[in-house]
Amino acid sequence: MSETISLIVALKGCENIEAEGKIIRIGNGANTNTVRSLAAEKLGLAIPLNDIILETSTGVELTEIEMVRLQQVVYIHFHQQIKEVPGPVRLPMVGNLYEMMPDLTAGWAKQFATYGNIASVNVLGTEMVATNDPAIAEIFVKESEYFTKKITNTLKEIKDFAGNGLFTSDSDADEWKLAHKILMPAFSPRAIKAYQPEMGIIAQETMKVLSEYTPEDKVEILDWCTNLTFETIGRIGFGYSFDLMDRNKPSHPFINAMGFALSNSVVRFSRPAFMKQLPMEFNRSWERGNNLMRSIVDQVIVERKNSEFAKDSEKDLLGFMLNARDEQNLGLSDENIRDQVITFLIAGHDTTANTLAWVLYELSRNPDIQAKVLQEVANAGISSDELPTVEQIASLKYLSRVLKEALRCHSPLRLLSKYCKKDCIVPGGYRVKAGTASVVSIYNMHMNPDVYENPTKFDPERWTPEEEQKRSLYAWLPFSTGPRACIGMAFALQEAKTVLSMFLHRFEFKYDGPDVVYDPYQPTTKPLNMFMNIHPRTNFPEPSENIIYQKSEEPEEKISMPVLDRKVSTVGAIDLPKVTFLFGTQTGSAQDYASQMSSQAKRFGFKDVSLLPMDEWEVVKTGKYQKPADTKESQHELVVICTATYNGLPPDSAEDFNKFLETSIQNDNEDLLNGINYAVFGLGNKNWRTYQAFPYKVDTSLDTLGAHRFFSPGVGDADADMDGDFNQWCAYFWTHVLGKYGVAASASKSVIPTATLSAEDTDLSTAKVKFISPSESEKWKSAMDNKNGEYNSTLLVNRELQKEGSDRSTRHIEIDISQLESASSVEGHLYEAGDHIEIMPENNPEEAERIALGFGLVLDSVFEVDAESIDDLSPRSMAASIKGPCTVRNALIYYADLMSPPSRRMLSFFASQLHATAPETAKKFDSLTMPDERNQDQYPEFIKKHRTLLDLQLAFPQVSRIDLGQFLAAVGVMQPRRYSIASSPLTFPKHAHISVGVVDDIVGDKHYPGLASSYLMRLRNSARLRAHLKSSKSTFSMPADITKPLIMVAAGTGVAPFRGFLQERAFQKKNGQEVGPCILFFGCRNPEKDYIYSDELEEYTKSGVLVTKHIAFSRKNPPTSQKYVQHALLAHAGEVWSLLFNNNGTNGAVYICGSGAMSRDVCSTFQVMSKSFGVAQNDEEADNFLQKLMEEKCFFQDVWG
Ligand SMILES: Cc1cc2nc3c(=O)[nH]c(=O)nc-3n(C[C@H](O)[C@H](O)[C@H](O)COP(=O)(O)OP(=O)(O)OC[C@H]3O[C@@H](n4cnc5c(N)ncnc54)[C@H](O)[C@@H]3O)c2cc1C
Ligand code: HEM
Ligand SMILES: Cc1cc2nc3c(=O)[nH]c(=O)nc-3n(C[C@H](O)[C@H](O)[C@H](O)COP(=O)(O)O)c2cc1C
Repeated sequence: MSETISLIVALKGCENIEAEGKIIRIGNGANTNTVRSLAAEKLGLAIPLNDIILETSTGVELTEIEMVRLQQVVYIHFHQQIKEVPGPVRLPMVGNLYEMMPDLTAGWAKQFATYGNIASVNVLGTEMVATNDPAIAEIFVKESEYFTKKITNTLKEIKDFAGNGLFTSDSDADEWKLAHKILMPAFSPRAIKAYQPEMGIIAQETMKVLSEYTPEDKVEILDWCTNLTFETIGRIGFGYSFDLMDRNKPSHPFINAMGFALSNSVVRFSRPAFMKQLPMEFNRSWERGNNLMRSIVDQVIVERKNSEFAKDSEKDLLGFMLNARDEQNLGLSDENIRDQVITFLIAGHDTTANTLAWVLYELSRNPDIQAKVLQEVANAGISSDELPTVEQIASLKYLSRVLKEALRCHSPLRLLSKYCKKDCIVPGGYRVKAGTASVVSIYNMHMNPDVYENPTKFDPERWTPEEEQKRSLYAWLPFSTGPRACIGMAFALQEAKTVLSMFLHRFEFKYDGPDVVYDPYQPTTKPLNMFMNIHPRTNFPEPSENIIYQKSEEPEEKISMPVLDRKVSTVGAIDLPKVTFLFGTQTGSAQDYASQMSSQAKRFGFKDVSLLPMDEWEVVKTGKYQKPADTKESQHELVVICTATYNGLPPDSAEDFNKFLETSIQNDNEDLLNGINYAVFGLGNKNWRTYQAFPYKVDTSLDTLGAHRFFSPGVGDADADMDGDFNQWCAYFWTHVLGKYGVAASASKSVIPTATLSAEDTDLSTAKVKFISPSESEKWKSAMDNKNGEYNSTLLVNRELQKEGSDRSTRHIEIDISQLESASSVEGHLYEAGDHIEIMPENNPEEAERIALGFGLVLDSVFEVDAESIDDLSPRSMAASIKGPCTVRNALIYYADLMSPPSRRMLSFFASQLHATAPETAKKFDSLTMPDERNQDQYPEFIKKHRTLLDLQLAFPQVSRIDLGQFLAAVGVMQPRRYSIASSPLTFPKHAHISVGVVDDIVGDKHYPGLASSYLMRLRNSARLRAHLKSSKSTFSMPADITKPLIMVAAGTGVAPFRGFLQERAFQKKNGQEVGPCILFFGCRNPEKDYIYSDELEEYTKSGVLVTKHIAFSRKNPPTSQKYVQHALLAHAGEVWSLLFNNNGTNGAVYICGSGAMSRDVCSTFQVMSKSFGVAQNDEEADNFLQKLMEEKCFFQDVWG
């Protein structure tokens, strides 16, 4: 039994253990990562834990915690030697000033070229290190115990006029913390939407001025971009016009003063401190300019304070600054508001103006790219004559890529200046000392050829989701990132897209001079001497497809619910229509959502409310819709549909609905559903290429059949925060509905489903339970047997597939399925290769006991839930799922979902129950149901800290005060897990094999085993299981023509279905049938560890069933060039192509199985191949090519995770 011990950690090579070694203590649950993170903390290693190696004094690697426990001293080693950051020799006094000035960026570029990705210099006594490497940049920009933003160097000069504004305050300054908290909501998506019309108006005013130029005039376009962005922040931020849209007026004195201050901040930085005090003209102008800026801003503030809008916090940014308070009722001081206004006037215009000018320049040099932008603008229906809407701007995806690329090539801020608080070692093994200015040289990183291939090329294709995914998140930092990131990013991008789309519709901007460079004397990246000719545009294209944007049915203001407004206060005449909630579900989420909405509808006073599976809808069953007698649109039936999708197809409970839509559309029944108002919420997962395919089909088909889209469709992504997406959509939906029918909401009848639960109506969130006395022996017996389904199958084999020495586990499991219902339509088959088996997991009994102990539940008591008390509960709650008598033990082992993160719904249940007994905790939980008034969502951070119900209970023991009924209502029911069948029915008609990757997440020093995979791992031979066979419904089935070549691509346990495919082909071959060739691309880490089924694959190769196999090892030492399957595919593209388009006339089929990320990369590789082999000329055609292969049943994907 291990216990808490102390040991010393020291860097390898350290000569004086007493002085340099640090003591750490490790407890029972520690593992090697615990030791790594403690060592990192004590020794100041700001590097990823994986890079840290633990060793003995003789250099033996310590891979197991038990080995570590035997040491007195553990030596820390990483692949790189620890070294000082290299840099040039310093001159006395000035250091490296002459090498670095006037253009710090060029200076750093020289240092990187000489010393590598990190270098150090000294400028006038200030030590600086800088990097152009995303891995080091990541460490610098994350606010941490090692690095922070502290105002030094050039920023210190800017602070002279921007004072304690956001941009120029230290992260630990109270002013920054307060202002950051108070001002964030002014940049929420909702706020940005409200700014949209004004942005369009100012663009139109600017175009009016630009149209006064003749095509021959050389125009310094940056000036007009600057006027435009300045006017925009002035008006939108502070309701103050600088009156800049006039060619004949001199520029505003504020702009002149600010321009002087900004450009001279760099110059001042390079001067010794004493020079800044001398009575020279330069210093006097500096002072004069700064005073002028302050006095203009004071005037703006006074005007506002004396105006009728003085108390209106919603009016604009200034309104916010003057009136907003934090939870302690603290607001910004007058002096701080002045600093903030100056900050926003500067930060809010200069960078955006530069970006606009650079985009116009790049578009003029890249006509192909410009043509694509124009086409997109045309397809969005945007013109310079009308103000574009938020939806139109949001549809400009390609323009977003162009902007990203412009921000890469011409990042307006060329460096981010951070500060090292504590000595540490950064990636690469470099020692950075406390007090060093630590710079991310954004410009040089964006131009680093190791990060961006051919970096000087302007190429928006770098920003497709697939390409982006390949790079570090820290490789693109024009807006910085983390808490000190740009607060105005969304504002800037919205403004830039609005302006560019309108400008490009009206004008053609032409530049025909030499390449433009940036002005090194300016602190932001401004094009130097860029004069353009402005021509009226004559070649604006026609839309190439139906205008993708459709105007919302209702004007934007109608959906004006602030995200956090939990109440709607209208009261009015109630004449409410019938409402039908339909759900299409397989695992219950869609049903849960529909049921939450139907409970809400009843609370709002809707009388005629029904809740049904989609297939049970009367209209689907009869194929007819009885049109309403009442012709008033407001009295038409409201139908709300929540549906999931599986492989792009309808879920089981919506198959008839799907057929109904298809037949009705085929029959041209265009007014069949006239008289219905409808809204759709789709559930999906972005890992699938067919994201939201079926909900989308439902939404558009209902429209085609004459129903009226009453509210815009909502989408939830199960890979992210689906409950959050739903809560938000629902809040908007109800605000719209209630506004329309004049219904009042209240705290207990909130528009947010989960918020309702936490209001005073606590009865609704409780299940009534009756305890059964042991004397009722029948009921006791059935309680003991109540195990959430029938044990219908038997485990026959459970063996390890990973090789000895691997620290992970993958189990090969064989199950006797002879008693299961068949999932195959082939006579005599229980399943087909490519089908799935669904397994019901069980909680570890010890976990169940811990929960019982925590919540004070008696494991062997027997209870029954009162069926009538669950009407208002989620169908996914334990209470709604446990039928008949059950023991508490069985409820906890077989029903309770104990391992998932506490859901928002669960937290709001707890809140509702704790209002009286633990109001503080209730308030905390309440605030987690959805983003707060400042649009900040605390839920994601909360569940990182409290991963499971047990974690929650340990951190908030108050939750244990709830009783069993409340517990059953709050906690969700566990969901079955699917596994691809790894066998063929021809070889194993009565057995299904599966390959299970065992999940074991380690957070800190705690292990979180996967629910189903750890359960399966624990099972011994002959154990009984609850399972169901699930057809893949021909979305992943082998071709009927057995001569068809198969190209199989898998990573990890994704190889499972292919084991079934190969068994099937081997069986057919052995029987003398002629089978098509098969090739396999398989990705794993290391041949010695996780190359699962290697012997079998070798056998298939020998017997010729498998023609070739290409295995990509991602962690082989030495590394191979084919790291991942997509690399192997590209390397063998010729072979793949010749099988896919076979000369013999039998084309092949591609099958991809494994994680979503792998599948996306493989699809992109096929797109690349299609372009290389000439069947597609561009990305769009490549995408269509894949789509066509899928439709022709030649391209299949089965993805998870
Ligand atoms: C169609 C299909 C086919 C599949 N085929 C296979 C197959 O052949 N082989 C195979 O191994 N798998 C397969 N899977 C995946 C499988 O269904 C399971 O998802 C997998 O085994 C993990 O389940 P689990 O219960 O062990 O882990 P879970 O407990 O579900 O945990 C899985 C992950 O969810 C996250 N998570 C869970 N709980 C928390 C929490 N409290 N806080 C934060 N994060 C959390 C973590 O990232 C964790 O690693 C398939 C899935 C699908 C949909
Ligand atoms: C393309 C346009 C823009 C770019 C590239 C940009 C870039 C940046 C960067 C890199 C930072 C971090 C600076 C640092 O760490 O020292 C920053 C901060 C900031 N930006 Fe922007 N910005 C842009 C537009 C805007 C706009 C439009 C506004 C306001 C409306 C704005 C307001 C701010 C503010 C207030 C900060 C300081 C935030 C803080 O530290 O809390 N920016 N910007
Ligand atoms: C086998 C399988 C296939 C899926 N296919 C898709 C898909 O093609 N597109 C999509 O957007 N989501 C897909 N999903 C995600 C589900 O739609 C999503 O998890 C949803 O929340 C399930 O809702 P339900 O619990 O109501 O069934 C798939 C999920 C599974 C397990």
